[in-house]
Amino acid sequence: MCGIVGYIGKQRAVPILIQGLHALEYRGYDSAGIFVLGSGVFKAVGEVSNLEKKIPKDILGTVGIAHTRWATHGRPSEANAHPHSDQSKTVWLVHNGIIENYKELKEHLIKKGSIFLSETDTEVLAHLVGSFYVKNVSLENAVTEALTHVRGTYGIAVVSVREPEKIIVARMGSPIVLGIGEKEYFVASDTSAILPHTKQVVYLNDGEYAILTKKEYFVYTLDHHKQERTPDRIEWNIGEAQKGGYAHFMLKEIMEAPDVLENSARGRLDMKNGTAKLGGLEGMEEKMASIKRIIIVGCGSAYYAGLVGKCLIEEFSGIPVDVEVASEFRYRNKHWNKKSVVLAVSQSGETADTLACIKEAKRNGVLTLGVVNVVGSTIARETDAGVYNHAGPEIGVASTKSFLSQIEVFALLALWLGRHRELSLSHGQEIVEALKSLPQKVKTVLLEHDAIKEIAKKYKDSENFLYIGRTWNLPIAYEGALKLKEISYIHAEGYGAGEMKHGPIAMIDKNFPTLAIVLKGAVYEKIISNIEEIKARSGRVVAIATTG
Ligand code: M6R
Repeated sequence: MCGIVGYIGKQRAVPILIQGLHALEYRGYDSAGIFVLGSGVFKAVGEVSNLEKKIPKDILGTVGIAHTRWATHGRPSEANAHPHSDQSKTVWLVHNGIIENYKELKEHLIKKGSIFLSETDTEVLAHLVGSFYVKNVSLENAVTEALTHVRGTYGIAVVSVREPEKIIVARMGSPIVLGIGEKEYFVASDTSAILPHTKQVVYLNDGEYAILTKKEYFVYTLDHHKQERTPDRIEWNIGEAQKGGYAHFMLKEIMEAPDVLENSARGRLDMKNGTAKLGGLEGMEEKMASIKRIIIVGCGSAYYAGLVGKCLIEEFSGIPVDVEVASEFRYRNKHWNKKSVVLAVSQSGETADTLACIKEAKRNGVLTLGVVNVVGSTIARETDAGVYNHAGPEIGVASTKSFLSQIEVFALLALWLGRHRELSLSHGQEIVEALKSLPQKVKTVLLEHDAIKEIAKKYKDSENFLYIGRTWNLPIAYEGALKLKEISYIHAEGYGAGEMKHGPIAMIDKNFPTLAIVLKGAVYEKIISNIEEIKARSGRVVAIATTG
């Protein structure tokens, strides 16, 4: 969740870096820091505004790097906040990611005389760069040499007081994007920090580094092969990335859901042929016709969307689907073959575990697809083909609109696959009709927000919550429980309603409420029985139910 910002150009760096840090605040952080060449380093624990207060107003430097930190190695403190420097305070560095072999590197550097001031893996990396940055060695060569000794993930931005007209950035598993201006360049871990300045961006790939000066930029592979990169244009505008009158981004993004569903389906519904038109899969028809198994990989909400995707794809197309948590799957033996497809689901398109599964599949010659929101992101680029969500920027860390759009895209994909197999025209047309009506249905639900708020008030002091559902709605229960934990810090679990009697029912009493998803359909009566079981234990039940 850490954030990187950098600037080199003709303007004062401080306001640009601080604005960039504010733009990244939504990702969560516990401390922040900034280094401006010619002026030094400033750090603060807590909000970016704490840092802002500490920076003198008269700093005129035009080159700098900045960082918001979410503690992984070492507690939140000024000492642990980035930027970190080498022993001689020549090299300054900000870093996202984790240096897995930092302990052995640290021991080696201590033997050579390094004294560390923080508990972080990042300071070890700064010292390592410093150890290679001897006379006549350029900053880029010191950085790339140091990186050959590192195991783990990084997105870094590095500056040096010895070569003050230069920023070096590099990436392996943690995003770095360059903003291309007129004789000025921006660096960030997330485009939202760059958007106010330029829409022209270059995404670094894993294993690449870039040299930025006030006049030009160059991209190379870590083994020094020059890369020709044409900037991409970001189509999102700043307005789309702002709160639009809502108290916070999450609320705004929940309320945007009907538009998001419209956008995800726009131009993709073909009523005449009862199918979906998916430009990103054009030309894949033949390959997809022969596949025997789909393996969906994702993390968190994206994984839960994948579970809904499984229900949809199996139901409409008959293709067997496995859904795997990417952070587990990447470390297991895989029994896939040339008739398998690995499908990555990811809002950001940058989740390292999901990306690792895709890379492994490609290495094995397995076809890869993506359901991704962020255009041009790494997963979008790495997969053989895919479907974009078109949900717009999701600023809130808690997925809301992107989760819905992932499900919409899965419905479109399942329809497309089904119509290339045995799904009938009339069934296909029914599905198209249902998808068309979805935005209006979601609008109706959102109109209930006041009533929903009252229920939330009633239950806000609960310490535990159970979410139950069956079939399609079981992953929705998982996702609901995740949202409650993540946003309200209330312990919550999602459970298959039919599994309650096999143990979890023991927890239920009047202080342990349940949210039940009870929609009319094949398992309606069954879940009503489950609710009866809960009520028999004095459990309170909030139901999301079919009207009437
Ligand atoms: O960007 P991704 O969809 O790959 O992110 C995966 C998860 O980190 C993400 O879905 C997370 O679980 C949600 N933001 C939680 O609300």
